[in-house]
Amino acid sequence: MPLATSKEILQRAQAEGYAIGAFNANNMECVKAVIEAAEEERAPVILQVSQGAIKYAGLRMATNMVKTVADEASVPVVLHLDHGTSFLQNVQCLHVGFTSLMYDGSAEPLEDNIKTSAKITEIAHAVGLPVEAELGKIPKIEDYFSAQQMDDLRKRPDAEQVAVIREKAGPNVEELMADPSQAAEFVKLTGIDSLAAAVGSIHGMWADIWPLRRDRIEALRKATNLPLVCHGSSGVIRTRADAKQKGIELRPDECTLEEAVKIGICKVNVATAVSMAFLKGSWDAWQGRLTEKDLRKILLPGLQASKELVRGYMRLFGCSGRVAGSGEVEASEIKHAE
Ligand code: G3H
Ligand code: ZN
Repeated sequence: MPLATSKEILQRAQAEGYAIGAFNANNMECVKAVIEAAEEERAPVILQVSQGAIKYAGLRMATNMVKTVADEASVPVVLHLDHGTSFLQNVQCLHVGFTSLMYDGSAEPLEDNIKTSAKITEIAHAVGLPVEAELGKIPKIEDYFSAQQMDDLRKRPDAEQVAVIREKAGPNVEELMADPSQAAEFVKLTGIDSLAAAVGSIHGMWADIWPLRRDRIEALRKATNLPLVCHGSSGVIRTRADAKQKGIELRPDECTLEEAVKIGICKVNVATAVSMAFLKGSWDAWQGRLTEKDLRKILLPGLQASKELVRGYMRLFGCSGRVAGSGEVEASEIKHAE
């Protein structure tokens, strides 16, 4: 079916109290994993093209992978620009057929962020496309830890990892969060359609152990009626039961991903976890048969592992079963001659 815009599916998600998963189009296998998950779960889905994917695959390749799967899909698929870096990049993406744009002006002074977000929104709206913009700044874990430190840290029990991150990154993550008193004005001046607000998450975490700030989501929800977007969701603890099982204590003003969806998060961006599931699936397969010569037979278990992860997220977000249909899809398999 033709690509959907994020506006139509996010508005419905907001009205009905669930969230849409937004997963990154990093390679053909991950794109297939996401689309197969969406078909099987009967879920609308957002495939987003990140700056890393543009560098890796090129804008045309990344765009066309998503367009190709969307064409054949029986669920709504959105082609979204993730963390668009400039006005010009947004215009290029609009030109090549994206159905949802994002401008990330979080590194700029607020007035400049507003100005550029507004300019992009005006142009996008002229052709019926929605725009997401960022308020506050969602940091990345590399801002606080070196690769070696992360490697050491992830070997420790989950609760200890959280304690260390709280101490080293916590105050800065809090400082960078979106200010609810600026949100209404930001939305009004820019005209955007969804708000990527920094609500305590950190990009690029290796495990789902970190809480979101419930108080901030609630305040932003009151300040603006737009669909809220959660970035950096791979690192966010999914449920209370997970927190308990991992021995992680949440503070009263914190919440899980599942709870965040209930209080107003309508789009959940997950990238790192999909990538890690893919790597682990492929790695395990290769370890089991180091003499394998056919790369597809090693990549396929990666695809299947990331697909299962995405299906789990879709159920958690409540977007499963929102599209009518059977969910019967032809699963990935190697059909070529051996
Ligand atoms: O924009 C992309 C996301 O925010 C992904 O973050 O890699 O931490 O899941 P993540
Ligand atoms: Zn992000």
